[in-house]
Amino acid sequence: MTTILKINASARVVRSLTRDMTSLFVSEWHARESSAEVRCRDVGVNPPNPVSEDWIGAAFAAGDRTPAQSAALRESDELIDEIEWADVIVLGTPMYNYGVPAQLKAWIDQIVRIGRTFSFDLDRGDTPIEPILSGKTLVLLSSSGEGGLAMGEANAARNHLQPHLRTIAPYLGAQRVHDIGIEYQEFKDPRHEKSIHDAHHDTPNSCPFELAAAFASQWTNSKNT
Ligand SMILES: Cc1cc2nc3c(=O)[nH]c(=O)nc-3n(C[C@H](O)[C@H](O)[C@H](O)COP(=O)(O)O)c2cc1C
Repeated sequence: MTTILKINASARVVRSLTRDMTSLFVSEWHARESSAEVRCRDVGVNPPNPVSEDWIGAAFAAGDRTPAQSAALRESDELIDEIEWADVIVLGTPMYNYGVPAQLKAWIDQIVRIGRTFSFDLDRGDTPIEPILSGKTLVLLSSSGEGGLAMGEANAARNHLQPHLRTIAPYLGAQRVHDIGIEYQEFKDPRHEKSIHDAHHDTPNSCPFELAAAFASQWTNSKNT
């Protein structure tokens, strides 16, 4: 039985492309594996708290934590427990101001934590940080208003969304990252349609159940009706 954590980061609840994408992805998965267990985390509607001085003090506390320090990390513990539980993390996120939405950044800051998702050892030289979790798959489903943002394209230098999330992926335990992005949403022109078409053909062979292909196909069809 696969365990799937679905995360939505869009502040929009209606007419959100990325919410459509995560919903269809998960329903496609269920069509193939009805016993798959799904948990949902909506950081777009319920943003995690930004980390605070108390949070940092508690995370880096040496020895046993005080009850107040444990309380300061409760939200982080809950979010990390969800990550540990999941085999597959399906993350739907818009691009906001060329990067991740603030609510998703708050989630990342709660999750990337010493002793839970990374270890730190200066004996490792210039790379003291090592991820702790492993074996997971991250499916990154994104949407942006502009386009030409992929590596090698005209606006690539402005794209701090997927590159940031790929850097963070190891701290989520993700050893495989599948990245399907829809572009030119604000233009609603043939380039937008082409990005949907390209998403349809983004079929990473290693993707479990070749789900990305099935998802993209259904999504394309639903947009054309
Ligand atoms: C606050 C905000 C900031 C945005 N910033 C960018 C941006 O920097 N670059 C871009 O290409 N699109 C930007 N967009 C457009 C969104 O990425 C696009 O509308 C996307 O489809 C939103 O995802 P959603 O449909 O799931 O809400 C922005 C939209 C909003 C609401």
